[in-house]
Amino acid sequence: IPVDPFDIVIFGGTGDLSRRKLLPALYHRWVDGQISETSRIVGTARSEMTTKAYRAMAKEACETASGANWDATAWKGFERLIEYVSIDATAPDGDWPALKASIADAPERPCVFYLATSPRLYVSISEALGREGLVTPQSRVVLEKPIGTDLESAREINNGVGAVFAERQIFRIDHYLGKETVQNLLVLRFANILFEPIWSRNYIDHVQITVAEDLGLEGRADYYDKSGALRDMVQNHMLQLLCLTAMEPPNHLDDDDIRTEKIKVLNALTPITGEAAKRITVRGQYKAGVRGSEPVKGYLDELSNGHNSQTETFVAIKASIDNWRWAGVPFYLRTGKRLPSRHSDIVIQFRPTPYSLFGAGNDAVNRLVIRLQPDEGVRLYVQIKEPGPGGLRVKSLPLNLSYAESFTVRYPDAYERLLMDVVRGNLSLFMRRDEVEAAWAWVDGLIDAWEQSGEAPEVYAAGSTGPLAAAMLMDRDGREWYQGA
Ligand code: BG6
Repeated sequence: IPVDPFDIVIFGGTGDLSRRKLLPALYHRWVDGQISETSRIVGTARSEMTTKAYRAMAKEACETASGANWDATAWKGFERLIEYVSIDATAPDGDWPALKASIADAPERPCVFYLATSPRLYVSISEALGREGLVTPQSRVVLEKPIGTDLESAREINNGVGAVFAERQIFRIDHYLGKETVQNLLVLRFANILFEPIWSRNYIDHVQITVAEDLGLEGRADYYDKSGALRDMVQNHMLQLLCLTAMEPPNHLDDDDIRTEKIKVLNALTPITGEAAKRITVRGQYKAGVRGSEPVKGYLDELSNGHNSQTETFVAIKASIDNWRWAGVPFYLRTGKRLPSRHSDIVIQFRPTPYSLFGAGNDAVNRLVIRLQPDEGVRLYVQIKEPGPGGLRVKSLPLNLSYAESFTVRYPDAYERLLMDVVRGNLSLFMRRDEVEAAWAWVDGLIDAWEQSGEAPEVYAAGSTGPLAAAMLMDRDGREWYQGA
C-alpha cells in the first residue's frame, strides 16, 4: 500500500549507514511502489557536494546493496526524489535556510528527520531544527543506536531531544525489530494456540539467545573500542529479543501495547552486580586466528593504535527475570565477533518428560529453535522412533520450517519496514524512552561490577566458538549451548 507523500531529511547522508542501509531501503520501497513521486529525500552532511554528485553516490550505494535486484529504469525515477544540502550541523550558523527552502513548503506532510550521525549531535541537531522552525506536528525524528553510552548520557539525549519533539514524534530505532524473523516471533507466539499454555516456567527449562558474527571490527574501531559487545549488542538487540520472547501477550499490536509489555520484562530483570557478575557473566576478546581458512588479526592488532584495550568482543550472560511466568528459568545470552559463522537464534528448551519410558538420552527434549539469520526458519525438535527392528530407539529430529523453501519473495531489509513505519507514524517497533533507560540501568549495573572486579576479558581465538568460560557457564548448570543442525 503506497504511503502518503513525505519528506525525509537524512543527517549523516554520506555516511556508512546511509549508503549501506537507508538509501537502499528507500530505493526498494520505491521499486515496490510504496513511495509516491512527490516525496522528497534530502541528504545532508558537512561536505560540499552537488545534488548530481550525491545522486551518483546514492546510485552506487543502491546498486551495490541491490545485487541481482537492481533495476536501472526504476532508479531513473527514484533519483529525481533525491536532493543534497550541505549543512554543518555542529556549527551554529550551518546552512539551515537551504534546508528550509527544500522542505518548508509542505508543512502538512510527514517530515522525517533521520539522525544517522554521532549521538553527540542528536541534541544540537534537534535544537537547531526547533530554532529554525522546521519542527511541525507532522515531524518525526529517528534516533539511531547507540542512544548514549550509559543511563546518564541516554537521559541527556532523551531530555534534549524531548525538549523539541514530543515523545510520540521520537522513533528510537533498533533494526533487529524490523527483521522478518523477529516479527515472526510475535506471530509464532500469539497466532498459535499451541505455545502459550507451555510458554512458562512450568514447561520451559531455559532459553538461549545467540547472536554470533564472523566479522571483526570492519573499520569501526573508534566506536567499538569505547563500546564493546555489551553496549553494542546486548543493551539493545539482545534485550529486545529477550523481551519479545518473554513478554506477556500485548492487548493489541499498535502503539504502546507492545512497548508496555516489553518494559515490564526489562524492569523484572534481576540486576547483576558485585560478585554475581563473576559467576554468571563472561567477557571475551579475540586474538589472532582464522576465518574460513584465512588468517585474521586479533582485536588488539585491528585497533592499530598500540592500545592495550580491555574492551570485550564477546559476552555471555545468564540472565533471570523475576516474575511469575519466568522465575527460575535462566535466559542465557551470548554474542560475539569473530565467531565461526554468522548466525542468530533463539532456543526455547523445554523440560524433560517427567519419566522416561524409553531410556532416552539427555538430548531427548523438545526444543523450539527460531533461526533469525541466516537460513531463517523455525525448527521444533520432537522425539521419534528410529526406524528399524532393533527395539524402540528414540531420536530427536526437527520439524523444519524453512522460510526460503516456504516463501519465494525477497525479504525486505529491516530498515525498509521500519522507515515506512516512521512515515506512517507507527511507533510499535520503536523503543520508548523508558525502555532505553531501563535497558541502560541494567547494563550499567553490570558494567560497574566488571569495573570493580578489574578482570581482563578472557582471550579466545578468532574463528573459535568463544571463551571456554562461556561453555563452562552452561556446563556448571548441566546444560550446553545449542550447536545448530
Ligand atoms: C549493529 C552493531 O547494531 O548490529 C554491529 O553495531 C553489528 O556491531 C550489527 O555487527 C549486527 O546486525 P545484523 O543485522 O548484521 O545482525
